[in-house]
Amino acid sequence: MSAKESMEVSEAQIAVHWQEEDYYHPSTEFIAQANMTDASIYDRFSLDNFPECFKEYADLLDWYEYWHTTLDTSDAPCFKWFVGGKLNASYNCIDRHLAKNRNKTALLYLPEPEDEAHQPITYQELWVRVNETAAMLRDTCGVKQGDRVTIHMPMVPELAVTMLACARLGAIHSVVFGGFSGKACGERISDSGSKVLVTMDAYYRSGKLLEHKDKADEAVQVAADEGQEVEKVLVWQRYPGKYSAATPLVEGRDYLASDLVKEYAGQRVEPVRVPAEDPLFLMYTSGTTGRPKGCQHGTGGYLAYVTATSKYVQDIHPEDVYWCMADIGWITGHSYIVYGPLSLGATSVIFEGVPTYPDAGRPWRIAERLGVNIFHTAPTTVRMLRKAGPDEPAKYTFHFKHMTTVGEPIEPEVWKWYYHVVGKGEAAIVDTWWQTETGGFLCSTMPALQPMKPGSAGPGMPGIHPVIFDEDGEEVAKGAGIAGNICIRNPWPGQFQTIWGDRDRYVSTYYAKYNKNPKSTDWRDWPYFPGDASVEAPDGYFRILGRVDDVINVAGHRLGTKEIESACLLVPEVAEAAVVPVADEVKGKVPDIYVSLKPGYESIGGEVERKVSDAISDSIGKIAKPKHVYVVTDMPKTRSGKIMRRVLSAISNGKDVGDVTTLANPDIVDEVRKLVQG
Ligand code: WTA
Repeated sequence: MSAKESMEVSEAQIAVHWQEEDYYHPSTEFIAQANMTDASIYDRFSLDNFPECFKEYADLLDWYEYWHTTLDTSDAPCFKWFVGGKLNASYNCIDRHLAKNRNKTALLYLPEPEDEAHQPITYQELWVRVNETAAMLRDTCGVKQGDRVTIHMPMVPELAVTMLACARLGAIHSVVFGGFSGKACGERISDSGSKVLVTMDAYYRSGKLLEHKDKADEAVQVAADEGQEVEKVLVWQRYPGKYSAATPLVEGRDYLASDLVKEYAGQRVEPVRVPAEDPLFLMYTSGTTGRPKGCQHGTGGYLAYVTATSKYVQDIHPEDVYWCMADIGWITGHSYIVYGPLSLGATSVIFEGVPTYPDAGRPWRIAERLGVNIFHTAPTTVRMLRKAGPDEPAKYTFHFKHMTTVGEPIEPEVWKWYYHVVGKGEAAIVDTWWQTETGGFLCSTMPALQPMKPGSAGPGMPGIHPVIFDEDGEEVAKGAGIAGNICIRNPWPGQFQTIWGDRDRYVSTYYAKYNKNPKSTDWRDWPYFPGDASVEAPDGYFRILGRVDDVINVAGHRLGTKEIESACLLVPEVAEAAVVPVADEVKGKVPDIYVSLKPGYESIGGEVERKVSDAISDSIGKIAKPKHVYVVTDMPKTRSGKIMRRVLSAISNGKDVGDVTTLANPDIVDEVRKLVQG
């Protein structure tokens, strides 16, 4: 599909075009205490000082061996950072804090049931648990440096412990979001070549203890069907000592981790000194075509970048109580619940539950009780909390100095509620634009250095130099206010290294569009193309408009339309399926599904619609659940037979369908419109 055609179905096209808003300035109290108040950081990180400027970030870490080359471009666009350096991520996130902060809370775990006490885990306790878990992974499962370990777990401290245990061994973790189906997990196991799966028996969600272990059985089966054998499954228990799943353990394959780890009591595992460019983890994300791709993140560059951005953008000080309400199963949780905050020696909250259960006051009760002063969430959650309990925050006495929004564009209206009602007019807000691939923030204001502007992410981060290109590769003049494809001119330490096992796809997806010389080893020839449309205002603030490819951002989570469409085709009656993003008051975008049936079939009593919806939940997860499923007699098509998703998208969103006279079957458009709009 050409870029022009894919633009036709893009989110960006149906994105609302907000007005430029006025500035909001951070308070003098905030500025007085902020970690980064020196505006010269932008000069230090100018392109003239690239790439050596990033030494400043890497120096926030402890290295066993210092690097000799800051940036190696010899295999561009697979860039290597801090080459020659050796370090260990778990050492940096735990051991180095012990001397001064052994007894300080590292992770503060909150179970969903309000009658279960919160559990502070000190750095000492985290160190003990990570060592024992590393010993268990090594000795029971044979995990060693470079092995992949798939982790499919809910929001519990054992998830962070298992990740850090892998890092201690130099093994590569691949965390799959707990809400994903067993099938989705199995596909990721197989792609990554994991022989070990770590999971949990059950977890709480909206008041119910949900079985989770059954997904592991399905995942192992799906992986086996694809030729990848899982040898060991470790099952943590939600209540240690009590197995909360109905699915039995498989003899010789499944082990209760909560019991087994006791056999490793007192064991210590020397952190493996890995080269800076050794992979730390894989994180699968949806793309334009085919299956999710495993974004491979390195150790030294990634950890340096998330540590620095946690310090300067999240403004985390050791004495802060920091709560990021994302799931660790997404990149936000990896970078800004686990690695960044722990590397800084902060206290990071892990919350098992959903923000609106049992009511929309829950997050504010938590913030009040724990003394949270830095809060981090997605626009979807803000919209949800605003809708369900607009007056709730005022009932509690918490005070945030700083708040983050991440993952999707935030409407100025919603931003203002966040600012005035949640932040009580005191908190500085950062709207951080970035991606799974980028490891850390790309655009955001530095909270004490620049004013906020609702609906705009802000300028490029220090050392990140964004540019807007048009479809033909011409640069859009700076600050022209003209929308185009935002790209980053230069590499940076947090960026992923490649797609696991598929360098060609890495190059073609993210670089081919704006690279003029595929043989070049000069980084200047390799602008990074994230797949988002954006517009730059005269003040240099970027407003992100949405995806330009076939990716739908549902509640801040990326889903590929192709993945959803292939799930629809699992329903035997379905001949063709098309998925389009439809605007949703709470989730930003949700999928609308159009299916046509094979000859001789009809949907009686909405049966096919139900089956399609279930097929999507089963093969991807509930987060992909469609808003509507429409059974149509035919799809609007071009004369060459391509489904015109642009037309369907316009119908779903109540927009003008434009000129449809050149379609092969223009009459169908009215028929579909009547079906959808009545
Ligand atoms: C979108 C989440 C507007 C964007 C960290 C990007 C945003 C995709 C913002 C990445 C933001 C992320 N404003 N849009 N502040 N942050 N996006 O990989 O389309 O789950 O490409 O990473 O979310 O989603 P991902």
